Amino acid sequence: MHRLAEDFVRLHHRETPAHGDPGPRLAAVHAEIDATGTYRHTPGELAFGARVAWRNSNRCIGRLYWNSLRVRDRRHISDADTVARECVEHLEEAGNGGRIRPLITVFAPDTPARPGPRVWNEQLIRYAGYTAAGGEIVGDPRNTGLTELAMRLGWRGGPGTPFDVLPLIVQGSDDRPRLYELPDEAVLEVPLQHPEDTWAEEWGLRWHAVPAIAHMCLEIGGICYPCAPFNGWYMGTEIGARDLADADRYNLLPPLAERLGLDVTSDRSLWKDRALVELNRAVLHSFDRAGITITDHHTESERFLTHLDREEAKGREVGADWSWIVPPMSSAATGVFHRTYDNTELSPLFTHHDDALVRARGEAAP
Ligand code: ARG
Repeated sequence: MHRLAEDFVRLHHRETPAHGDPGPRLAAVHAEIDATGTYRHTPGELAFGARVAWRNSNRCIGRLYWNSLRVRDRRHISDADTVARECVEHLEEAGNGGRIRPLITVFAPDTPARPGPRVWNEQLIRYAGYTAAGGEIVGDPRNTGLTELAMRLGWRGGPGTPFDVLPLIVQGSDDRPRLYELPDEAVLEVPLQHPEDTWAEEWGLRWHAVPAIAHMCLEIGGICYPCAPFNGWYMGTEIGARDLADADRYNLLPPLAERLGLDVTSDRSLWKDRALVELNRAVLHSFDRAGITITDHHTESERFLTHLDREEAKGREVGADWSWIVPPMSSAATGVFHRTYDNTELSPLFTHHDDALVRARGEAAP
C-alpha cells in the first residue's frame, strides 16, 4: 500500500506541476496509512487517477479524450438504494439527450473496515437472455447467467423481447444483492434502420446508446474502487460486428445474408463479409439519424494514432493490446493494424477482479 500510494502521489505531482513538491502530501498519506490501514484521495487525486486509468486502458482505442473524462465523486455512498439511484443519474448525465459524455461515477472504496458496494451487472444496460425449454435463447446469450440470477433474486422477467433491459443487481457494503429496474427515461436506445432497406425495422432491431462498464475495479495508488461505472460512446463495430453478429451473441449474419439473397452455401461468396457491411451501415446510419454520438472504426483508428503521437510528444509510453485495438472488420484498412504495440500495464488502471467476473456471469451465490 505505501509503495503504490507513493508512486501515485509522485505521478500526480509530476504531471500537475502546479502542485509543487510532493513531500508534504507523501508524509500525510504515509501517516494516514499507518494509522488506518488505508488513505483517502483528494478530489483532485481521484479525478486525475480516474482519467489516467482510462489513459492506461490498453484495450481501448478511444483514449484520445482521456483527459476530458467527467468524474462524479460519490465516495460517501455505499448503500444499494443510493448506488442504484446514482447509476440512473449517471446514465441520464452520460446520455445527455444523445450528445454522449464520457463519465465515471466513483462510489465508496474497499477499506480494511468494510468492502465498498458492487454492481453485479457487466454494464449498467444489458439485455436479458432467456433460455427456453428447448435450449434456444431469446435475447443476448451473453447474459443468460445474469438473467437467471436476477430471476433467482425475484425478477419476474421482462416482456420477453430480444431486447429486454435487465434490472441492476446492486450489493451495498456488507449487504445482500438487491434488484433495481432502470426507468425507461434512463435507457437511451436506438431503433435500427438500414439506409436503403427495411429488414432492421421489420426485425425490431435496436441497441442501447450508452456502453457503461460496471463490473471493473478502478485501482488508484493501492486503493480499490470496486464500484465505479464508466462510459464512453460506442464505436459502430462493437454493435454491428460483435454484439449483433457474433455466432454466440445475436448471430444475425446468417438470417441477414439469406434476406439479402446471398449465396450462403459457400463461404467463398463472402456472404458473411457482405452481411457484416450492411449490418454496420445500419448501426451507424441509425445512430446518426437519432442524433446519438457514435464513432466508426476508420475515424477512431486515426484518432488513436493521433493519441499515440500526442502521448509520445509528452514523453509517455502508451500500452496497447493489438488484438483489442484492431477493429473486428476491415482491419487492414485501418492504420492501427499496421504496427505493433507494447502491452505493459501501468497504474492507475481499470481491472477485472475474478469475483466480479463470476458475479457478472451470474455464477455467484446471491
Ligand atoms: N464492447 C462493449 C459492447 O459492445 C462495450 C465496451 C465499451 N465500449 C466503449 N465504446 N466505451 O457493449
